[in-house]
Amino acid sequence: MSKITAAITAVNGYVPDYVLTNQELSTMVDTNDEWITSRTGIKERRILKGEGLGTSDLAVPAVMGLLKKRGIGAEEIDLIIFCTTTPDMPFPATANSFAHKIGAVNAWGFDMQAACSGFVFGLATGAQFIETGMHKKVLIVGADKMSSIVDYQDRATCIIFGDGAGAALLEPSTEGYGIIDSILKSDGSGIPFLNMKAGGSIKPATHETIDAREHYAYQEGKTVFKFAVTSMADVAAEVMERNNLTADDIAWLVPHQANKRIIDATASRTGVCEDKVVINIEKYGNTTNATIPLCLWEWEDKFKKGDNIILAAFGGGFTWGSMYLKWAYDTK
Ligand code: UT7
Repeated sequence: MSKITAAITAVNGYVPDYVLTNQELSTMVDTNDEWITSRTGIKERRILKGEGLGTSDLAVPAVMGLLKKRGIGAEEIDLIIFCTTTPDMPFPATANSFAHKIGAVNAWGFDMQAACSGFVFGLATGAQFIETGMHKKVLIVGADKMSSIVDYQDRATCIIFGDGAGAALLEPSTEGYGIIDSILKSDGSGIPFLNMKAGGSIKPATHETIDAREHYAYQEGKTVFKFAVTSMADVAAEVMERNNLTADDIAWLVPHQANKRIIDATASRTGVCEDKVVINIEKYGNTTNATIPLCLWEWEDKFKKGDNIILAAFGGGFTWGSMYLKWAYDTK
């Protein structure tokens, strides 16, 4: 019997309507369009507005669209891996509220917390259930309502983040399509540089933690940048080398969208030329777990069956990783 691989058989994305421009940000904090554009490549980002709406509400339209494209019902999903850093609630898992909202009555699920690397970690995890034959349809969701934890008084951090959701369906392939290899890493010595200090078991919420603004994402941008720029580029190069791939073999490089300068460094390190690098950071900013699935969604029509695609991510933790996959379908 031929080996079973986990192929992506459908992707979709969703971003909320409200557009937060650099211009509007410059009325909120001391910044300007020129600084944000030249330092990050971001022009605007989307924000989920509305009382009582959370991350799962971003994921619902993304996944309903995916199911429609694939022509299947939510009840056919076996497993949901919900990758997020902004869960609907600290517990229970957003995978549960999300499954309930879409009617995935036969699925079990759990949340994946690996910050901006979550979607790649989620794909690698989901692939195991397909490869072993345990499941036939595994849904990997990457979604974040970053606006719920961004401090709009911190000009160095608030300018990069936005809200969004994306998803990919994994199904078995016996023709060698899908996830071929991945290298995943984490290093807890990075915690001081990118975190949320309060609201966990070490420092539960108090009036003091709220006054100290410790329920917002904290980032030492320069330090994170230094780690991201080398780690993401190195791990992408490593997965290519391990699979004897040169830049010419790669159809598309899909990097996490945190900063255009980090993306450029990854492209340069792997030798992949600019027109093969998927970039939409100017429209959405850093949507954390959603960046890579949003890229897959927007580029889906350009991907061809058999394309060699490299995913690369870096995030809080620190976490980072890269994945080599063979695209499984043509859209036309
Ligand atoms: O998603 C995964 C994890 N996150 C990342 O990968 C993000 C990595 N970090 C970055 O992308 C960058 O560090 C930032 C975009 C967050 C910041 O850019 P930077 O070039 O590292 O700026 P900086 O924090 O070193 O600040 C440089 C200067 C400072 O002024 P002085 O001290 O040189 O006078 C800042 O106060 O720029 C100032 N500054 C700003 N000026 C205008 C910081 N933020 C702003 C701003 N507008 N929004």
